[in-house]
Order: sequence, then structure tokens, then C-alpha cells
Amino acid sequence: MCGIVAYIGPREAYPILIKGLHRLEYRGYDSAGVALLNGKLHLYKTHGKVSELEKLVADKDISGNIGIAHTRWATHGEPNDINAHPHYSPSKKLAIIHNGIIENYATLKSELINRGYTFESNTDTEVLIHLIEDIQVNEKVNLFEAVQIALNQVIGAYAIVIISQDYPDMLIAAKKGSPLVIGVGEGEFLVASDATPIIDYTKNVVYLEEEEIAILTRNGELKIKTIKNKDKTPYVHKLEMQLSTLEKSGYDHFMLKEIYEQPRSIRDSMRGRLNAQKGIVSLGGIIDYEMKLINAKRIIIVACGTSWHAGLVGEYLFEELTRIPVEVEYASEFRYRNPIIYEDDVVIAISQSGETADTLAAIKLAKSKGATIIGICNVVGSSIARESHAGSYTHAGPEIGVASTKAFTAQITILTLMALSIGSKKGTISTSKFYQYINEIDSIPEKVEKTLKLSKQIEILAKEFKDVRNFLYLGRGYNFPVALEGALKLKEISYIHAEGYPAAEMKHGPIALIDKEMPVVIIATNKGSYEKVISNIEEVKARKGKIIAIVTEGDVAVKNLADYIIEIPETIEMLVPLLATIPLQLLSYYIAVMRGCDVDMPRNLAKSVTVE
Ligand code: F6R
Repeated sequence: MCGIVAYIGPREAYPILIKGLHRLEYRGYDSAGVALLNGKLHLYKTHGKVSELEKLVADKDISGNIGIAHTRWATHGEPNDINAHPHYSPSKKLAIIHNGIIENYATLKSELINRGYTFESNTDTEVLIHLIEDIQVNEKVNLFEAVQIALNQVIGAYAIVIISQDYPDMLIAAKKGSPLVIGVGEGEFLVASDATPIIDYTKNVVYLEEEEIAILTRNGELKIKTIKNKDKTPYVHKLEMQLSTLEKSGYDHFMLKEIYEQPRSIRDSMRGRLNAQKGIVSLGGIIDYEMKLINAKRIIIVACGTSWHAGLVGEYLFEELTRIPVEVEYASEFRYRNPIIYEDDVVIAISQSGETADTLAAIKLAKSKGATIIGICNVVGSSIARESHAGSYTHAGPEIGVASTKAFTAQITILTLMALSIGSKKGTISTSKFYQYINEIDSIPEKVEKTLKLSKQIEILAKEFKDVRNFLYLGRGYNFPVALEGALKLKEISYIHAEGYPAAEMKHGPIALIDKEMPVVIIATNKGSYEKVISNIEEVKARKGKIIAIVTEGDVAVKNLADYIIEIPETIEMLVPLLATIPLQLLSYYIAVMRGCDVDMPRNLAKSVTVE
């Protein structure tokens, strides 16, 4: 949700900022802007992508070695030039970039209007910078104090950076609820929403904590205080991210690259945690809290979107392997429902970004009621990871494509290892089954590799279906969440309407939609309920629907019924999601490309949803 990047140091700021914006563009891409200081504050902004901003500034003065830049995902006000960030203060001496939502902006705005201020944009951000300047002028305080006083009046979430013509050697950054990372270089600082714009310049970073304000000065001094004026000592972390992971490496899109990375990313999720030869599954990050999981009366999984689908797979895994009841909750519903939470509940929060506002709020709520929080996040040092008592990183590497692919399979991998580890310690899995399962999961990366070879076949299939208006995805058991995920992937990147259902639910309503125009993707690998899946296929065929079936290699019965067949390698039922997801990702990808959609940056979406 919005990307922020700022620079202060000896170099020209603009090239650093624009490169940073390109890296952050996955977070929002409806408008972009930059403010640079070279004696005077220059501000340029436009609707559209970062490339539009580059065109706009082509003949402008972009010199200066201090600056702030922003790529936006609109919350307040439509995506146009005026609502784009940065925003000026009334005197145009200050400019601000902001990620988050100022919830009480309307009250603050009407107070400011009563005092004679006018506003150009419809944004909450412009209200904040007006408020800061108003305090600075009327209370006769310095910029830092003005920011501090203003932030004490603000309700909501923010990651902000402020630049001032009167303080040409200083940037001020602050954070609450939205992420902000400071890169600490040699005599220079970068500030960004995540580490991707920073990695080219330094591996030393400081993650700003809640309600902290940082003052970054050109002489290399970094001071952090809270909004309540408490001094904080910056803690410098070392980034482990590799630069190559942020590039397309010859693929047409990040999404395709990330789909193809899955044999490696799944292996990386298991690295150091699974030793199939020795029969060991151990997740170091949760070891101190394992007894909580073993003794849990209930597990609640909270997540959103694709991560929620991974959570559904987790429900099947944990119930089967550990016999602990599991509830899977949309974080946004859970947090506002006054949920019943017990101290012996374990809440597992799943989030690729680790910044999703609803998931973060859900775990804060559960934590306040005494539950144990286990995080499964991809982004190291992210807010959810830090808020959790314990957890396991997925280690899938940065996911740049807005549609989640490799993070999903990595999340399922971690959930499988977690359930296996707890189940074996709890005695709810027999030793022979445990060995069978860990050997099978060990072979999954090679099977994913093999599944990816279906790519050509799926591209041909995509050509056949690229112009349809609706798709139905069906699956039973472990394949039900796969159906949901397949449908989500298709709709978000190709804009074709798609629905996922448990196959047996079809007859309770969606069957009304089926006619010869309706393609139905059915994941038909189930061993336990194979006959039932065949009945569901017959029901579709009887109404002339087109069946695209994902089956296990060597299948006969479904092959005879389906219009199109995708054969994936044989595996045990609980691991099928790791394989069956791959052709569905590829199908969505190729259909979207053929429809001319922007696969890596689908309309209206953003990678990291840091607003409610
Ligand atoms: C879909 C997608 C989203 C995210 C959701 C949660 O492709 O990416 O549905 O899964 O916004 O995000 P995280 O996992 O970062 O909490």
C-alpha cells in the first residue's frame, strides 16, 4: 500500500529515488511523485505509473541531494495529479509523503478550515502536513517538535517522511502501523517502505518501531525518539536479501519468474528444518513454544486473501496430523467480531508481507487476551513477525509480482512441517506414516519442477479460454482451498470473473450457472473421494459445461470424461495442493498475458495491504 522512498547524503537524490520507486511500484501504482531540495523545494507528481513521472520530469530541475518520493495506492481521493504525493504545506516550505490512513483527518481538516486553511487535494495526508506547519508557526516550535505534537493528535496509521526548505540537512521520518525501514550507509541515509530500494546502497538497516520519529541528518547522525519524547537507541540489522532476487532474470514478468522459482523456494522453506534421511522435522523458530501447540485446545488461523487459502490447507493438515481443532478466520472479520479467545488458544498468523493491517490487528487482539501467537511470514523483520511470540519465516525470497504465487506454496510447506512436527511429538501420527510423509515432502521440489514442464500445454489451453467471461473452480478436501486460490489468481490478474467452491456445494446453487459457455476447472486427484469427484464432473457434463481436470498421472476414469486434462505427478493427498496449484497459476498467467493485462501490477491492487 503506497511506496515511500527518501534519501539524504552526498549523491544526487533523484536517480536513487526513481530506482527505489520502481522497486516499490508493486505496492501501489496509481500515481507517483517526488520532491527535491536544492536551495528551493521542487515538487513533481502525476497520476499513473512511475514511468509517467519520469516523462514529467524529463525537462525539469531534478538536482539536489536530499529528496522524498512516493508511489500511491489511493485511499482518500481518486488517483489524479492533485491527490498524488508528495503534498506541500501551506507555505510550500514543507513536503510530506505518507503511507497509511489518518482516521480522524475529517475532524482535523474542519478545525484547520475554521482557522482559514484551504486544501488542494482530497487526501488525509495534506491535512497532516497542514497541521504540522500550523503547529510549527503558531506554537513556535522546531520541525521535529511540530511533528511530534501533530502525531499525538493523529488517530490511524502512518509511515511518513517530511522534507523542509528551512532544514536542508535533515529529513524526519515517523511510523505507526505502516512499515518504515532506514538504510544506514556511509554518510548517507535512505528511508523506504521496505528494504528493496535500500539494498543497492547498504545492508545495514534500522526498522522503525511503533510511534517512533527519526531525525536523519546529513552529518550521518540518526536520532530516534518516540512521539512521547522517549529517547530510543537505533538497532542496526543486517539485510540478508540478494539483489538478484529483485530482478526479472530474463523472465517476461516477475510473476512467471516467481512461479518458476517454486522448486527452489519450497526447498528453501524446508532447509535446515527437514532431514528426511534422519527422520527429523524441527522448526527452530517455534521450539520454545512447541508445548503451547502440543497442548493447544484449539488453533485459530488468521490471514487474508491467498494467505487465508493457505490457512485453509493448514486446517486440513493440523486436524489430520495433530487432532487439534482448527478455525480459519478472515483477519478482518475476526478482529471486529468480539471473538472468544482462550489463553490456551494458539493463533497462527499467515502473511507474505507481514504487514497486512487486518492480520496485524487480529494478532494484537488475540495477544491481548493471552493467546500464543505464531507467525508465518515471508518478509524478515516485518511487523507481524515482530508482534508474534514465535514463528517461522517462509524464506521464499522477495515476492514482487502482486499476485502471490511462491509465497502460497511456501506457506503450505511451513504449515505441513509444523503439523508434522507437532503431530509426531504429540503421538497423533504413527512412526511409519511420519516417515512416509517426510519422504514425500522431501520429493516435492522435484515434482514441482516436473509440473512446471506442463507450461506449454497450459499456454495452449489458455488460448482456448482467454475470451470467456466466467470460470468455476471446484475441489474437495485439500483441493477445495486450491480451487479458491485458482479462482482468485485468475480474477485478480485477468479480470475474468471466477469462483471457487467445494465440489459438492456446486449443486446447492452455482450449478445454475453451468451451460456450454462455462469452463469448470476441477481438481480431481482425490483418493478418498475420487468417485464423488467423478459424480461432480458428470453433473457438469450433463449441463454441457466444459471440464478442465487436474488429475494424477495415469488417471483413466476422469480422463474419459473431461474435455481437457492436466496430469500432475502422484503424491499423497495432503501434499497435492503444492502441485495442483502450479498449473492453475500458469493458466491464470497465460490467460492474463493473452488478454493484454498488466500481470505484475493488476489494476486496483497492491502488494502489501497496510490499510483496513
Ligand atoms: C493474492 C494476494 C492477496 C494477499 C493478501 C494478504 O494474490 O496476494 O490476496 O494474499 O493481501 O497478504 P499477506 O499475505 O501479505 O498478508
